[in-house]
Amino acid sequence: MKNKINALLHEVKTFSAENLEQLEAFRIQFLGKKGTIPALFAEFKTVPPEERREMGQLINTLKQAIQNKIVTLKNQLDEKSTAQSSNFDLSLPAGSPLGTRHPLSIVRNEIIDIFSRIGFSVSEGPEIEDDFHNFTALNFPEEHPARDMQDTFFIEKDPDLALRTHTSSVQVRVMEKSQPPIRTISPGRVFRNEAISARAHCIFHQVEGLYVDEDVSFTDLKQTLFYFARELFGEHTKIRFRPSYFPFTEPSAEMDISCNICGGKGCNICKYTGWVEILGCGMVDPNVLEACHIDNKKYTGFAFGMGIERITMLKYQVNDLRLFFENDLRFLKQFQSSR
Ligand code: DAH
Repeated sequence: MKNKINALLHEVKTFSAENLEQLEAFRIQFLGKKGTIPALFAEFKTVPPEERREMGQLINTLKQAIQNKIVTLKNQLDEKSTAQSSNFDLSLPAGSPLGTRHPLSIVRNEIIDIFSRIGFSVSEGPEIEDDFHNFTALNFPEEHPARDMQDTFFIEKDPDLALRTHTSSVQVRVMEKSQPPIRTISPGRVFRNEAISARAHCIFHQVEGLYVDEDVSFTDLKQTLFYFARELFGEHTKIRFRPSYFPFTEPSAEMDISCNICGGKGCNICKYTGWVEILGCGMVDPNVLEACHIDNKKYTGFAFGMGIERITMLKYQVNDLRLFFENDLRFLKQFQSSR
């Protein structure tokens, strides 16, 4: 019996299977009801008591070797079949080319980086917004023509809801749930009912900024935005402010930077003025602070808002805004960044 088992052990060790059918036949031959192992256990009953221990161990070793063999061969065959069925070429070098970030994400991340270095946090709000957060709290009186500055997509089923027209709505949400000092920027998607062209789209992205504390002045606003412009467009960048109007700031301004293409000498990007507009800003209107339960006798603040598409177009000299939404790889591949 001992010799027989040793011969079987050798047979098991050297066995190999070309396919799953052969492996199954092997299993039945040894482990099946009428197979070798049950037969050996039957024979075991006739073994004299003094040999039982050794024989028992041998049979178990054989059984274990068979089971191990089956698992190993099964794994090998499975691997082979996945490799064949998915046409993997295992001799090819590993790794595939990395994708690139979308240019709007690159610029958004850069803006976030610049402001986080001077203590601004990032906040977000919903894209479907109610009238209070998008308009009323921001000092747009009902029926006031200022509401027409932004063509709004309303939600038919609920006249109180609309797709937010600007990220200024996030200002309101932040001030509602926190008290000064507040320093935050809010990047996000906004929606306006505008015809799509090289300069406008019905979906675009903005970054809103808000700073509220005691004694915040227009000087702080100017210095913060000057720092921002130089970080983003280079240290020789100049800025200028032009008076403007927004319901939620008083006084309000628009900020231009010296044209980053011609350095201010005049070219077709800046329409030969040497300046390009990049954002709107101003001192937070006391009515807005009040609507958000912030003491407007004690605190003042500044706010600003900019379009990420516009900044990206200036920074990378992209002349058609629609390119950002078409996802043409030939365009996207030109933007490499580790951010
Ligand atoms: N919300 C304005 C817009 O979408 C941009 C803006 C202007 C935001 C002035 C501000 C600001 O916070 O102070 O056109």
